[in-house]
Amino acid sequence: MSYNGGKQRSVKHILPFLNHAALDGKEFIDAMGGFGNVISNVVNKRLYILTDMNPLLIHLLKAVQSGRLETHKYIRKKMSKAKHKRMLNWKGVNGDKPINLKRAIAAYVYSHWNNTTGYLDMYGKFQERDFPRNQIKYLCKTLSSKESFKQCHLRVCSYEFFLDAEDVVLYFDPPYEGTVGYHVNRHHAFDHVNFWENVRALSKKNFVFVSEMKAPADFVAVTSYTKNRRWEHLFVHGGSKAHNMAKL
Ligand SMILES: C[S@@+](CC[C@H](N)C(=O)[O-])C[C@H]1O[C@@H](n2cnc3c(N)ncnc32)[C@H](O)[C@@H]1O
Repeated sequence: MSYNGGKQRSVKHILPFLNHAALDGKEFIDAMGGFGNVISNVVNKRLYILTDMNPLLIHLLKAVQSGRLETHKYIRKKMSKAKHKRMLNWKGVNGDKPINLKRAIAAYVYSHWNNTTGYLDMYGKFQERDFPRNQIKYLCKTLSSKESFKQCHLRVCSYEFFLDAEDVVLYFDPPYEGTVGYHVNRHHAFDHVNFWENVRALSKKNFVFVSEMKAPADFVAVTSYTKNRRWEHLFVHGGSKAHNMAKL
């Protein structure tokens, strides 16, 4: 797990589209759901599905949903410096290491690690502010109260699992093109060209929305906002159901 925060701050810009009355009662799929920042704020849908390729992430979200994370021993007690260091070695997704809550917590808490300088800066903060516990408490607090998250079906799979979907709302927040930080497996890079091709096909029968910094020319940005000092947009395919809805 190589990022933290996701859409936490910027979700407010895209909710007017995802929560548009025209989409009430539909099935909502957040197919690269990350830490659930988006789906937990979606309302009035018949079914909520969050999937992600990252098994540690889904493991962690299931533990939040069941209430198991809030009572975990790493959250109950303050962590020693030595434990912090050990946790860093647990966080990787690659390899045949087991998928368990200990590693899922480490992956979440240390998701800044990919940026070496960032990690070093953050390390001081971990000590100062009892960072791991606060991070996990925050995650539990923000998700547990949300109805859509409580009902949400959680599953590990690629977004390609939904390529035959019909009449659903699909939201994609893919790893940004040109960044390395979000790949689940560094040996299996995200295929952006194929992704946009799939979005074109899916947009014919579904309401499809994509958060990205750039898109091919046949896509239209229905809203734009700054995130970490860069412009991010919510894209729909030109002339699609989602595009027509966004114009209403
Ligand atoms: C930008 S993050 C999503 C952030 C999320 N919206 C949030 O607010 O927490 C991208 C996510 O895509 C997932 N991912 C990468 N490749 C994927 C694929 N082929 N299918 C499904 N998920 C994938 C990553 O594991 C990561 O969680």
